[in-house]
Amino acid sequence: MNYLCSQFQKAAFVVASVAICVLTGCGKPEGDVIRVGEYASLTGKEATFGQSSHEGTLLAIEEINAAGGVLGKQLKLLTEDTQSKPGEPATVVNKLIARDGVVAVLGEVASSRSLEAAPICQANKIPMVSPSSTNPKVTETGDYVFRVCFIDPFQGTVMANFATKSLNAKKIAVFTDVKSDYSKGLAKFFKEKFIANGGAIVTELDYNGGDRDFKAQLTAIKAANPDGVFVPGYYTDAALICVQAKQLGLNVPLFGGDGWESEKLTEIGKEAVEGQYFSTHYHPEVGSEVSKKFVENYRKRWNGKTPDALAACGYDSALVLTDAMKRAGSTDGQKVRDALAATKNFQAVTGTITIDGNRDATKAAVILQVKDGKFKYLETVAP
Ligand code: PHE
Repeated sequence: MNYLCSQFQKAAFVVASVAICVLTGCGKPEGDVIRVGEYASLTGKEATFGQSSHEGTLLAIEEINAAGGVLGKQLKLLTEDTQSKPGEPATVVNKLIARDGVVAVLGEVASSRSLEAAPICQANKIPMVSPSSTNPKVTETGDYVFRVCFIDPFQGTVMANFATKSLNAKKIAVFTDVKSDYSKGLAKFFKEKFIANGGAIVTELDYNGGDRDFKAQLTAIKAANPDGVFVPGYYTDAALICVQAKQLGLNVPLFGGDGWESEKLTEIGKEAVEGQYFSTHYHPEVGSEVSKKFVENYRKRWNGKTPDALAACGYDSALVLTDAMKRAGSTDGQKVRDALAATKNFQAVTGTITIDGNRDATKAAVILQVKDGKFKYLETVAP
C-alpha cells in the first residue's frame, strides 16, 4: 500500500511538474534565444549597485540584439534580485541554472555575494562573469569564474599611494566592515602598502554593514589623532560615517574605494562627504571613444541618467561574455569558458580588457573627489 501510494504520489508529482513547466516554460530554453542569467542587488541596502549594473548590462544586451544577436540568435537576459542579502545569491543562481537553463551568469557587484554563487556556477560548469567584484577570492573559486574589473591588491595600493603622496599622510586609521569580504580584503591590501610606504596605521576599528551608529568607534579614531581615515565600505555606511565623524569634530580626510560610488553617498552624506575621495573603475568624462558612445547611449536609454562605474562594468561584462561566445562559436559552457580565458585587448568602456591567468582583468583605476555634490575626476592610475 505504502509503495503503491508513493508511486502514485510520484506520478502525480511528475504530471504536476510537467504541467507547470508547460505553463511557465521553465527548464526548456526556447530554441531561438540564448538565455543569459544576471543576479544583482536591485533592492536592499546596496540597491543602487544592482540597479546601475543592471541598466548597463541590459543596454549591452539590447544593443547586441539590435545588431543581430550572437551566433544568429537573440539574447534573453534573465535577471534575479539578490536583495543585498546573504543567502539570496545561492538561491537565485541555482534557480537561473536549474530552472531557467541559462548558459552563463553575469554578477554580482558585491564580492561577498559573488563568493556565495561562484561555487554553484563552477560546479555546474556555467561560466560566471562578475562585472565589478574586486576581492581576489572571487575568481579563485575556480576556472569558470571571471571578472572584467581590477582586483583589490591593486585598488588598495592605489589608495595607499594616494594617502602617502597626495594627502601627505603619515598616520592613518582604518575602519572596516567585518561583514564584507570586500571591506576586509581592501583594508588589508591598503594597510600593507601604506606601511611599506613608511606610514603607520594608528588604529583599526570595525563595524557591521548596516549599522547606524558609528560614534563609539569614531571617538576612538579621533583619540588616535590620524591624518586621515580609510573606510573601505559601501556607500550608505560610508556616508553615515562621514556625517558622524563631522559631528564629532574629526576633521581629517576620509577616503575609500569603489564601494563609495553611488548618488546616495552625497544624498546621505551632504556636506560631510564634500572634499572626500575614493577610487573606482571609470569616470563618464574621461575615456575612449567606446566610453563616450556608451555614455551617450546610456543617457538615451535611461532618461538622461549619467552612467556610473557600476553601469559601465555591467555593460562590459555582457560585452566580454558575448564576445567570448562569438569566438567560441558556441554557448557550450566549456567552450565559452575557454574563449573567456583567451580574451585579449578587448576595447571596453572601462578600458582595454585582457583576462589574465587568474581570470581577472588588469586595468587602470581612477581617483575621484566629491565636489559640489558631484564626483570630480582627479587622476587615472595605471597598473
Ligand atoms: N568592488 C566592490 C566589491 O567587490 C563592489 C563595487 C564595485 C562597488 C564597483 C562599487 C563600484 O564588493
